[in-house]
Amino acid sequence: MPVLPIRLYPDPVLRVECAPVEEFGADLTRLVADMIETMHEAPGVGLAAPQVGVELRVAVVDPTAGMDPEAVRVLVNPRVVDSAGVDTDTEGCLSIPEFTEKVTRPATVRIAATDLEGSAFEIDAEELEARAIQHELDHLDGVLFVDRLRGLRRQRARSFLRRLRANGPVSAGEES
Ligand code: NI
Repeated sequence: MPVLPIRLYPDPVLRVECAPVEEFGADLTRLVADMIETMHEAPGVGLAAPQVGVELRVAVVDPTAGMDPEAVRVLVNPRVVDSAGVDTDTEGCLSIPEFTEKVTRPATVRIAATDLEGSAFEIDAEELEARAIQHELDHLDGVLFVDRLRGLRRQRARSFLRRLRANGPVSAGEES
């Protein structure tokens, strides 16, 4: 299982509205295995398919960043079906190295998705897992966490991204 290159801002693949997975089989299983390895190698707590150049609605999340194999979530065609509360905490993104900022999101979410065989399931997530899942689901719609910032936080992100577009990324990061 190879570690895949992570696409960095401003790669246009990060702005794509990804297509639903319709074929469940060996190719999808291989993609997900590679994504999990890539996420753990980074290390990050989540990775979405467009971040490795694949325009499909697939995400992997692991709030333990590789410490607990049981914690890995594979989400195919995921969607938020319910959410509650509000929480603000720091986020980063493997595709935007060296930048973190506080993002406000629902505190808990219920997610409907399918597994690698196409079987539907639902999960309830809270705390870091809820945040990571919402961050990765945004990626599937071409949305980055910096898009969710407002006010001074947004200004800070915009000036960072302007420098990034001008100079290129500094190095690979350690965030989700
Ligand atoms: Ni990200």
